[in-house]
Amino acid sequence: MQHHLLHASGISHTFDYKLFDAIDLDLKAQESIAIVGRSGSGKSTLLHNLSTFLQPTNGNVALFGEDIYGLSETKIEQIRRYKLGMIFQNHYLFRGMRAGLNIELSSLLCGVSIEKSILDKLEISELLDQKTSELSGGQQQRISIARVLAKKPKLIFADEPTGNLDKQSANLVMDVLLENIKENDGALIVVTHDSEIASRCDKVYLLSDKKLTLVP
Ligand SMILES: Nc1ncnc2c1ncn2[C@@H]1O[C@H](COP(=O)(O)OP(=O)(O)OP(=O)(O)O)[C@@H](O)[C@H]1O
Ligand SMILES: [Mg+2]
Repeated sequence: MQHHLLHASGISHTFDYKLFDAIDLDLKAQESIAIVGRSGSGKSTLLHNLSTFLQPTNGNVALFGEDIYGLSETKIEQIRRYKLGMIFQNHYLFRGMRAGLNIELSSLLCGVSIEKSILDKLEISELLDQKTSELSGGQQQRISIARVLAKKPKLIFADEPTGNLDKQSANLVMDVLLENIKENDGALIVVTHDSEIASRCDKVYLLSDKKLTLVP
């Protein structure tokens, strides 16, 4: 039997107050889901809980069949480096560096090289020699997405990956993310405020009133 790429059960998180409670979520290979919800509802926090970066107050998260918060730092680092693709709400490119070098660094770290077709699809092939700090916000966002895809991640967590983008560019980004999971037999979780982007995923979940519910 094929295990889930992600299996989360009973996830709760509390900062100053309880953000959400008893959330269960499963993700299989080839599956894409979107998480929508009001600003401040806890979407980014939940994504951090699910992706090894923040242990939930309660509950368990298994990635690739392993309970991640019971693993050693070394093991977690390995999973992050080779298997997870994190597209954060604020991307962290090295600003003084050429755009292309940002992507190459990721390839170097993981020992795989980026496919030219991804750069073409994201319409950034011509930008690689420019300094990151000289690119527009949306161009930087696409470079940071290419950097994540360079390592062919199995599980992609994307927090508003299209927040800075026009509709056409946003759809290009969704095209490459969805292609990536097909090609690598992976899965995708996208947090978005854009219902059109959300509807491109297999399932849409709403985070509201401390619960995560499937939108019919
Ligand atoms: N590290 C932290 N320490 C304390 N409170 C935090 C921390 N991170 C987030 N919060 C609080 O948790 C709540 C949810 O934040 P979160 O970033 O998860 O929301 P979100 O749904 O992603 O919102 P947005 O759509 O605006 O990105 C907010 O009230 C925020 O202030
Ligand atoms: Mg957020």
